[in-house]
Amino acid sequence: MTINAAVLFETGKPLEIEEAEALPLGAADVRVQLAYSGICHSDLSVQHARMAGYDMRPIVPGHEGAGVVVEAGPAVGDVAVGDHVILAQIAPCGRCPVCLRGEPIMCPHARAQRTAPRLRVRGLETWTMTGLGTFAEEAVVPQGAAIRIDDDVPLDVACLIGCGVVTGSGAVFNESRVTVGSSVVVIGCGGVGMNVVQAARIAGAAEILAVDVFPEKLDAARRFGASHTATPEELPDAIRDITGGAGFDFAFEVLGRPDTVRAAFNATRHLGTLNVIGLGPGMMDLIPADRLGYKHMVRGATGSGHPRTEFARLIRLWRAGRLDLEGLVSEEIRLDDVNRVLDAMEAGDYQIRTLISYA
Ligand SMILES: NC(=O)c1ccc[n+]([C@@H]2O[C@H](COP(=O)([O-])OP(=O)(O)OC[C@H]3O[C@@H](n4cnc5c(N)ncnc54)[C@H](O)[C@@H]3O)[C@@H](O)[C@H]2O)c1
Ligand SMILES: [Zn+2]
Ligand SMILES: [Zn+2]
Repeated sequence: MTINAAVLFETGKPLEIEEAEALPLGAADVRVQLAYSGICHSDLSVQHARMAGYDMRPIVPGHEGAGVVVEAGPAVGDVAVGDHVILAQIAPCGRCPVCLRGEPIMCPHARAQRTAPRLRVRGLETWTMTGLGTFAEEAVVPQGAAIRIDDDVPLDVACLIGCGVVTGSGAVFNESRVTVGSSVVVIGCGGVGMNVVQAARIAGAAEILAVDVFPEKLDAARRFGASHTATPEELPDAIRDITGGAGFDFAFEVLGRPDTVRAAFNATRHLGTLNVIGLGPGMMDLIPADRLGYKHMVRGATGSGHPRTEFARLIRLWRAGRLDLEGLVSEEIRLDDVNRVLDAMEAGDYQIRTLISYA
């Protein structure tokens, strides 16, 4: 059986819509028919080889998706055919010493599962980004990467939880542990940064400054809970006005560029926490090591939690009306329109999150 997939054969080139065939299912794997995929900046980074560890070709990008389990290997017990699932980028075992010491993203079993081609395209073994490859109608993943959710959670908004929401909120809740009454600055308010803003609101931050180049993003950030907004040029004044010049308790860089990592560093107070979520080449080059002082620096991945507990918590916050998922969706497209959106993202002209619909 073949499925349609958007395949990257060569770095920097457009994706090509191809017929793909899934390699045989392992005993503990499931096949998921995707309903939706999000498009994240990291997909663009894979296309242009700006992300370490993803230069194997051909590759199907996409790592934020939700759908329905349509086939399960004989050893699968966590999910069943018919279950609605959100795909997780890491599938920590939850049992090994690394998981049990509270570092699921470092689980050696999860890491091993991601490093195998999953598809065949034009006769070539083809990789999938983070072991998911959601720019395709189906994904074959280990059962631990398919997190069951209740049937009444709409799959379009659920899908965003898999990267943008869990990364932004996990950075706030797990990695930086934003405290009640603290001050927060978020540089880059796209699909991930907007979730840092709303999680900081949920965590009880007193001041939340959203920084972006687009006025529309700043307006949206206010809807998601920012108390203040600024363009990059206005940032130094905002640091003075909001923190008296001391800097913010928590700063988040959500772009992955040397100049914005530096700006976030400068916006962090002494003994404060800088969390660099963005991924990109040369990112840390402008951090002046001799001026690090006692600032704390954090770099996590996908929010650094266990997807089972994280996804469940996020859905409960959404049910309680405290986490806005619907408001993150800017546009819905078909798979064959994916290059237009990636090109727009590369040009910087991009909304919060675009969804690919397979329905
Ligand atoms: N660590 C992780 O696990 C993880 C997970 C997902 C994404 N990421 C990374 O996070 C970053 C953000 O991803 P995204 O999908 O939200 O991207 P995005 O393109 O949706 O958002 C980037 C935002 O930055 C804004 N921007 C551009 N130039 C700016 C400037 N000079 N100052 C302030 N804002 C500016 C853009 O207008 C946009 O709103 C990317 O680097 C991505 O690879 C990391
Ligand atoms: Zn992502
Ligand atoms: Zn483990």
